[in-house]
Amino acid sequence: MTESVVTHCVAYLSPAGTTKQVAEVIVRHLKPQGIDPLIIDLSAEDYSFAQLEGPCCLWLGSPVYVDHILPQVCRFISSLPQGQSHYAAPFVTWGAVCSGVALPEMAQQLAQQGWQTVGAAKVLAVHSSLWQSRHPLGAGHPDAADLAQVSLLVEGVLQKLKSALPQPLAEEVFHYLSAEQEQLSWQKSLDKAKTMLGEHQPVVARCDGCGACVTACPVAAIDWRDNEPYVTERCIRCHQCTRLCPQQAFAWDGAAVEERLRRFAAASEEAPGTEVFV
Ligand SMILES: Cc1cc2nc3c(=O)[nH]c(=O)nc-3n(C[C@H](O)[C@H](O)[C@H](O)COP(=O)(O)O)c2cc1C
Ligand code: SF4
Ligand code: SF4
Repeated sequence: MTESVVTHCVAYLSPAGTTKQVAEVIVRHLKPQGIDPLIIDLSAEDYSFAQLEGPCCLWLGSPVYVDHILPQVCRFISSLPQGQSHYAAPFVTWGAVCSGVALPEMAQQLAQQGWQTVGAAKVLAVHSSLWQSRHPLGAGHPDAADLAQVSLLVEGVLQKLKSALPQPLAEEVFHYLSAEQEQLSWQKSLDKAKTMLGEHQPVVARCDGCGACVTACPVAAIDWRDNEPYVTERCIRCHQCTRLCPQQAFAWDGAAVEERLRRFAAASEEAPGTEVFV
């Protein structure tokens, strides 16, 4: 197979913009190779796979949330067309706490749809819950060195796609955490974290109905009820609404969040860094 006959697609969900930044670097490295990929921002949710015919390579990005990929990314994978000669290069961005099982989860779900993972990356990023912190976890990342690793991912995957039978990554490469840590990560979930953290709704008395939160929400989780914004079950707790509400109508204790995340990061065995698997 030559890479020029492969259709490329770069898809991502990126509430705070870092995963998008990595996706853009991938696109920038594909273009000089004569590849003009289909780009899908999963926050739009009106994607079409009409262009994904014949051999395909999907570059799929998600931030790590509570050691996993986002539910919207899972839904995207389960809606992918099944077929032969479908390859994938999943990538995640993570905020120096733990990348958990986000990559093996993506590879497994892609495999269930018949997409073989030929490369993958976990890219260190500033922690998007710590926008108020002066020194957030992952500060300054992804930096030039992280993004240089992303270019190695692109090179490695394109090289593989030149072969008649591109070799998928061995399953073992995804077991980079200890078995114990991996098991703990599988047990965690965004739903459990949401239950633990409790309701996320604006304080109506502070809200002036400007609609900024509705526009900011990357997963259309805020509806209007009785002319007031109401956060629905779709919420992924990215807190873009909290950050951008001009009236600070969403309760937020940034210091407590930072204290908790630093404790988790200190207990994590995973060294903060970017790693590429090809
Ligand atoms: C609700 C939430 C949960 C997160 N969970 C984790 C996590 O389990 N491990 C981690 O290292 N970073 C975690 N992060 C940080 C993000 O993975 C990281 O900042 C990522 O780059 C954000 O991507 P984005 O800028 O594309 O939204 C979390 C961030 C949020 C908002
Ligand atoms: S951004 Fe804040 S003030 Fe504006 S509608 Fe949303 S909660 Fe209300
Ligand atoms: S409602 Fe707020 S916290 Fe929930 S997904 Fe939307 S922007 Fe993120």
